[in-house]
Order: sequence, then C-alpha cells, then structure tokens
Amino acid sequence: MKKLMAANWKMYKTWDEARDTAKAMVRLLANSMPKDREVLLIPPFTAIRGVYDAIRDAKGFYVGGQDFYPAAEGAYTGEISPGQLLDAGCCFALAGHSERRHVLGESSELVGKKVAFGLDSGLSMILCVGETVEERKEGKLTEVVLKQLRAGLNTAARGFDPEMLVVAYEPVWAIGTGLVAGPKEILEAHKLIRKELLAMFPDIGSEIRILYGGSVKADNCGEIIALDNVDGVLVGGASLKADSFSLIVTA
Ligand code: 13P
Repeated sequence: MKKLMAANWKMYKTWDEARDTAKAMVRLLANSMPKDREVLLIPPFTAIRGVYDAIRDAKGFYVGGQDFYPAAEGAYTGEISPGQLLDAGCCFALAGHSERRHVLGESSELVGKKVAFGLDSGLSMILCVGETVEERKEGKLTEVVLKQLRAGLNTAARGFDPEMLVVAYEPVWAIGTGLVAGPKEILEAHKLIRKELLAMFPDIGSEIRILYGGSVKADNCGEIIALDNVDGVLVGGASLKADSFSLIVTA
C-alpha cells in the first residue's frame, strides 16, 4: 500500500501561484520521490486545471477537489459536480473536512451522501473525521469519530476498490494550531478507525488508507508516518510551499 501525501491548499493561491508551486514540487521530487509514496495536490477549484497541467506527466502525482455537491448537474448555484472535477483532471475529492463541518455547518448526513455519490461517479474519496477539543476533554473521541465514520460510509455502495476510499483523521484542535497530536493519540484514533473499517468492510478494511492531518510539518512527519495504521498525511499550512512540502513527502 503506497503512502498518500496530500496537500490541502484550502482557499489559498491564484491559478499562477498554484501552477508554479505544483511545477516546483514536480521538479524538487523528480529524483527523490520515494517509491512507496503518492502525492495528491488539492488546490482551490479555480486552480485545478493549472495544477493538473503541471503534474499530468509526473509519475505518482494526482490532483483532487476540496469538495463537491452530490448531484450530476442541476440548478445548484455556486456548486460543482464530481463529473466537473473529473473533467478538470481530478481523481480524488475530500468530503467532510472539519472546516466544512464547523465553519459551513455541513452535516454528517450530507457528508455521507457526498462519499456515496463521489464513489459512484468514479472519484476516489477522502472522508475526514475528527473531534473538537471540547469533545476530547469530555472523553467523546470514540463516540464522535465512530459517528462521523458510520454516517460518512454507511450509504456508500459496496464493491469499490480499496484504493478508492481513504479516511483522514484530523483532530480539529490540531488543525492550523501548531498543536500536533502525539503518537499515543494518533495510534489510538487510527486503531479505532481501522477496527471500524474492518467491521464495515471485512474484505477490504485492512487496505483502506488512513491519513493523519493537523499541523504536520517536515520535522514531525517522519515520526508520524512510521506509526501503525498511518498510511499518509493530509497537510494544510506546510503544503503551501514547494520546498517544505517536498521535505514532508520524503520524510
Ligand atoms: P494544517 O496542516 O495547517 O494544520 O491543516 C490540516 C488540514 O486541515 C488539512 O486538511
């Protein structure tokens, strides 16, 4: 199973900036990309095509969308469909990022619809889950993560290739705060997620990748990526610059 090193650029970068950063990453990793790694760049919608053009000939590089609306087409002003993401060059998409759940009020039910619809449409899906600091303090880690996982996955049609589903554990308190979860916390959450994936998908649960996200940097990535059940990382701030993200990819 290849480790997935994903860069979520959130609402940063113009078309030119995104294309130039992607080109620089391809250049920096041309001779140093580890064989067991894949790089996924997730730019804002407006920059997807520019990033795709920059990475299309680079082995092991992929482009993803940060979100979509679960319908093939229609009167959904401001939204974008899985088919449009595929058309622009994406093969992955995120669903349920904590900023969508907590800033935009997205429900777990809608997140589940997105995962199911995205898989049906041919996108590989990255379902994001994670607890807030209050939930953690109240001892609700298991309850919250399992609820998000079940709501996110229970409507997905079975029979998809295990490479098409990825779960990202991103504790909300570690996102953009510089507070990275410790090995003990990451191991605990990822073990819980693996156990539930095996229960939900007995045939392929062991092959579904689980990423860690939350203040991942070049100097902590090596330790994180070596932990049991950590099959990659989902990086925000430290993925915006080609040099720092390249160091993460090779960590
Ligand atoms: P940071 O790496 O900036 O903490 O963001 C993590 C994240 O939200 C990735 O999706």
